[in-house]
Amino acid sequence: MAILVTGGTGYIGSHTVVELIEKGKDVVIVDNLVNSSIDVIDYIKQITGKTVKFYNLDIRNEEALDKVFKENKITEVIHFAGLKAVPESVKKPLEYYDNNLTGTLVLLKVMRENDCKKIVFSSSATVYGNNGEIKYVETMERGKTTNPYGTTKSMIENILEDLYKSDNTWGIVILRYFNPIGAHSSGLIGDNPNGIPNNLMPYIQRVASGKLAELSVYGNDYETKDGTGVRDYIHVVDLAKGHLKAIEKLEKEENGLNIYNLGSGKGCSVLEIINTFESVNAIKVPYKIVERRAGDLPEYFADAQKAKKELNWETEKTLEDMCRDAWNFAKNH
Ligand code: NAD
Ligand code: WQD
Repeated sequence: MAILVTGGTGYIGSHTVVELIEKGKDVVIVDNLVNSSIDVIDYIKQITGKTVKFYNLDIRNEEALDKVFKENKITEVIHFAGLKAVPESVKKPLEYYDNNLTGTLVLLKVMRENDCKKIVFSSSATVYGNNGEIKYVETMERGKTTNPYGTTKSMIENILEDLYKSDNTWGIVILRYFNPIGAHSSGLIGDNPNGIPNNLMPYIQRVASGKLAELSVYGNDYETKDGTGVRDYIHVVDLAKGHLKAIEKLEKEENGLNIYNLGSGKGCSVLEIINTFESVNAIKVPYKIVERRAGDLPEYFADAQKAKKELNWETEKTLEDMCRDAWNFAKNH
């Protein structure tokens, strides 16, 4: 009896694997290492004392994936594997649609053939699109997505809904993440993107370590608390624990399709992040204010009530924890 984690050597996947192992779960990882390193398997061992079973494969390889199900008794799947860089998705839409959609379709088919019908899917707040509301609640319609990456998330949610309509013996949990940052307190695993980062926290980490000269703050003339963009940042370890709650729900219940926001419910500005990072780590993050970034929304955050009520999950870590742990990881990498 094991939980299959696709994309389990990635940023959120690796933290989730640690939480699962620490709760005594058996885990099998599949990952093609397109955006992560095999070293993560060793880091997971250093943190948990367990060597996790790992398959280096692309989830679009149906035969190889089927073999994983034949060799292990997989009871649930947590599906992280996918490409996630928004600007890259605009440049390479076919690659993104192929990897994210084909990967998910092959996975679902192999699951069905092996009579494993319980899945947790990594979705994103991006599926709310640009609909004018600031506090996103799960009862809202999915909005119009603004890039191929976001569209793959919206389409996969649609696919899962259609699948459930066709066969209500499936148990499906769709988790919509807000902005995950931070790292494991060991400093061994965290977010370390290749090349120049697009996301705020990895960029701050590179500036703090002197690898990049200064941060560009994309606009200070939004109608927000201090003019800079506001998001709902969530510590990756809190996020990982949300997956454990989703798995526990699937273990308890036979079937159903449920959608949950995983966020703190609070909005935080770019300047608040910079100031907190500087004060908890006693390090300067030089920055300049530049033009708004095309496609950015001024402000959004989660309505986090549903996950609290139904999954008994809420965030525990503070912005200080996120900034301290992110820097603790970055210093070592
Ligand atoms: P990540 O890139 O660190 O992890 C994804 C992992 O999937 C990587 O290890 C990569 O090698 C693997 N992978 C990609 N395509 C694969 C394939 N075809 N076969 C096998 N493995 C494959 O990303 P992450 O930040 O850990 O995100 C995990 C999931 O959460 C993704 O689906 C992402 O879209 C989603 N998500 C991320 C964020 C975020 O801000 N990080 C926000 C919302 C949703
Ligand atoms: C956060 C804030 C920027 C970089 C993206 C995806 C989304 C999701 C998470 C997966 C914004 C500002 C940023 C910088 C800055 N991924 N910023 N200078 O845009 O909220 O979400 O990642 O699903 O789909 O769109 O995250 O970290 O890029 O930006 O001022 O160098 O920081 O304007 O206000 P975003 P982000």
